[in-house]
Amino acid sequence: MKPPRKLHIKSYGCQMNVYDAQRMADTLAGEGFVETSSSDDADLVILNTCHIREKASEKVYSELGRLRILKDEAARNGREMRIAVAGCVAQAESSEIIRRAPVVDVVVGPQSYHHLPRLLAHAKAHGRALETEFPVEDKFGFLPAPKPEAIRARGISSFVTVQEGCDKFCTFCVVPYTRGAEVSRPVQRIVDDVARLADHGVREITLIGQNVNAYHGEGPDGRTWPLGRLLHRLAETPGIVRLRYSTSHPRDVDDSLIEAHRDLPALMPFVHLPVQSGSDRILVAMNRRHTASEYRGVIDRFRAVRPDIAFSSDFIVGFPSETEEDFAATLALVMQIGYAAAYSFKYSPRPGTPAADMRETVSAAEMDQRLVRLQELIDSQQSAFNAATIGETVDVLFERSARNPGQIVGRTAYLQPAHVMASPEIIGQILPVTITSLERYSLLGQLAVRSPTPPAPLPYLQMTTGA
Ligand code: 5AD
Ligand code: SF4
Repeated sequence: MKPPRKLHIKSYGCQMNVYDAQRMADTLAGEGFVETSSSDDADLVILNTCHIREKASEKVYSELGRLRILKDEAARNGREMRIAVAGCVAQAESSEIIRRAPVVDVVVGPQSYHHLPRLLAHAKAHGRALETEFPVEDKFGFLPAPKPEAIRARGISSFVTVQEGCDKFCTFCVVPYTRGAEVSRPVQRIVDDVARLADHGVREITLIGQNVNAYHGEGPDGRTWPLGRLLHRLAETPGIVRLRYSTSHPRDVDDSLIEAHRDLPALMPFVHLPVQSGSDRILVAMNRRHTASEYRGVIDRFRAVRPDIAFSSDFIVGFPSETEEDFAATLALVMQIGYAAAYSFKYSPRPGTPAADMRETVSAAEMDQRLVRLQELIDSQQSAFNAATIGETVDVLFERSARNPGQIVGRTAYLQPAHVMASPEIIGQILPVTITSLERYSLLGQLAVRSPTPPAPLPYLQMTTGA
């Protein structure tokens, strides 16, 4: 038997890339590839790239420079190393990548991962392979299901793609071009995936999609199901104790989603709802299709049914024509909403997007300064949110052994990491924890009650007890 070939995937950017990396690994497992944590001894290195901002997409070229040295070294030792570029830079830059970095053997866009074995064979025979078309067939249907060992190794929390692509065309964003039009997976496929994951120890599912609440998949009844209805169905899966979804657009929050938050205890009261700016003028220029006050209205609808709900968001500072007044409106919105967490970015023009043709009016120094001011405000809100848990008893879903010996780490409903001293048997369970202190963004605490007799541990849970 041939020895297994080693595969190293380095992912950048969003959760979708993390999920796609797993799907690529599953596809290549059928070709005899096993994953390795380092590129040094890999036979195949895949850079799973992100094109969302300039910084993200430039990273791929510096990494390719490093890989060229490794590939040359491997060749000198009589070993063949292949390099593939996947993800959104592959989609957006296609053959330009090979021109700039001839070391690359395969360029594969996100819609074509199921063709990886064929592309690798083609590269072996002809030196190079490139596929960045949007094929007509549904790629979701062609990707193999993960093997039970792979599911177990990935832990108790799993992403499941339910929707891909975006039809919103925000003027700054490359996603509609790199990931294409919105496509939703049929309900039954998702239900089956989630049941398989649950059977192998997964307890928490995060449904992902570039615009996840635009989900409109075909239900088993032949009708189109919205995200809220899908969540209701998935909440019935035995073993699944927590559900989440990301990333949502404020315009696509419908009654079904609000009802899901009202009715489903397993649906976590923590929603990532990007707003980008608090200025109506900038929101129009961004083509966000909602005003600041409509956004506040959406937040109010969630809060009316789940008073304990918390939000995170994304912001862009320095969008073309953003004035100090516009920026002040963003700060005001942040003050009004009160976020548990948020990400903020300096505007970066992306080739091919409408905003790239707009005149940039905010100087680099001003952008830096606005970013710092916004991040300080967000940080203060996040710190206050975390500090409010001290002395409280909160539910934690335990995920894995922590770096400190004897400590187990899990997450609260709001994704805050929480550490306790306990036996690894608690992994996979939700237990109440009394929070005693904070360490940066992590909570430290003690199990509030001794756990009831734990169920027989799953095989992989024994593995995590380690030596
Ligand atoms: N410049 C800066 N930030 C951007 N984002 C998307 N495109 C750009 C861009 N051109 C941010 C948005 C989005 C997040 C994923 O990345 O805030 O919600
Ligand atoms: Fe990009 Fe999100 Fe706007 Fe879609 S909704 S274009 S993914 S920022």
